[in-house]
Amino acid sequence: MAEVSLQHQPWYVRRPLVALAPMEDITDNVYRRLVRSIDREVVLYTEFTNASGLLAGAERVWQMLEFTEEQRPLVMQLYDYDAEKLGTATGDVVRRCRPDGIDLNMGCPVRKVANRGAGCGMMADPVYAAEAVKRMVDASGGVPVSVKTRLGIRRKDEILEVAERCLEAGAAQITIHGRLKADRPRTPADWDAVSRAAVAIPVPVMGNGDIWNEHDALRMIELPGIDGVMLARAAIGNPWVLRRCRQALAGEPIDPLPDAEERARIALKHLRLNVEEKGDRRGVVELRKVVRNYIKGFSNTRRTWMRIIETEDLLETARILETFAREAHAIDPIHYRTEPV
Ligand SMILES: Cc1cc2nc3c(=O)[nH]c(=O)nc-3n(C[C@H](O)[C@H](O)[C@H](O)COP(=O)(O)O)c2cc1C
Repeated sequence: MAEVSLQHQPWYVRRPLVALAPMEDITDNVYRRLVRSIDREVVLYTEFTNASGLLAGAERVWQMLEFTEEQRPLVMQLYDYDAEKLGTATGDVVRRCRPDGIDLNMGCPVRKVANRGAGCGMMADPVYAAEAVKRMVDASGGVPVSVKTRLGIRRKDEILEVAERCLEAGAAQITIHGRLKADRPRTPADWDAVSRAAVAIPVPVMGNGDIWNEHDALRMIELPGIDGVMLARAAIGNPWVLRRCRQALAGEPIDPLPDAEERARIALKHLRLNVEEKGDRRGVVELRKVVRNYIKGFSNTRRTWMRIIETEDLLETARILETFAREAHAIDPIHYRTEPV
């Protein structure tokens, strides 16, 4: 039988299906390149990008969609409160970037987004949400349109009507974050509710929320209706976790946990790419948002962290990370669970 190239199949049919979640200011071009350098297969998402901003031609907004070819499969996530703008922006993005998928954000709970009817606010009006999906599908030239959403605004079964209408409008895949709009990040994600919804949804569903390691990924994928897993916070400063999850789901041997040397190597690469793309100062300062996770779980973690936040100097930051690698002793080598941020 002829081998079917994954390249020509929609991203959501690949198995195992493991995705880096969209994260504002985290899953930028630099971090996606880094994750791709560690794993060839995981699906990458851009951070959410505002359709109105794209249509206004804001360079800063278009920059959020810059990517390198090796990042494919790459899904670009859009948000807006205006269905028409979402449709038009989808057409523009497809023409300019030809992503492997376009995702509609229906999960963002931030007030200034959701109160205007964008993000999670879209769940309040499933008919309008479906109108947005339809316009996106009509404009996408065959690039699959997916939806990332929560269980609901107030009730955990709101997802059912939203998903049904979005599917009628042509959505090809749904990702469900197992929380309600008002839930705190520390509220445990309700995987059973995600699974109950997934069983009722006839397209591939990724489960999201509180997947911290490969054990969680295996537990999530075993739930009825779940076709794939999406990781967000666990993957901040921890690109290896995605590969480990994919290996676990594929039944492959799992890579050893990264030692201090490997952590420092990738943190330094992150720093270098940041600086190349954003300049010295911003590159250094932005590494701080994530560097704590890179260096977590070692005897000198705290000391290293304190020194890093005291400097904005590129060479000094690089030296601190090199020293970290030389002096680190693992204090909890089997853990490596990133706590909620
Ligand atoms: C810093 C940060 C930024 C986020 N930005 C986005 C975003 O741009 N689009 C989106 O759909 N979700 C966004 N999310 C939500 C995550 O994609 C994910 O649904 C949520 O964190 C739950 O997954 P987790 O428990 O694996 O972190 C963000 C989360 C975090 C922590």
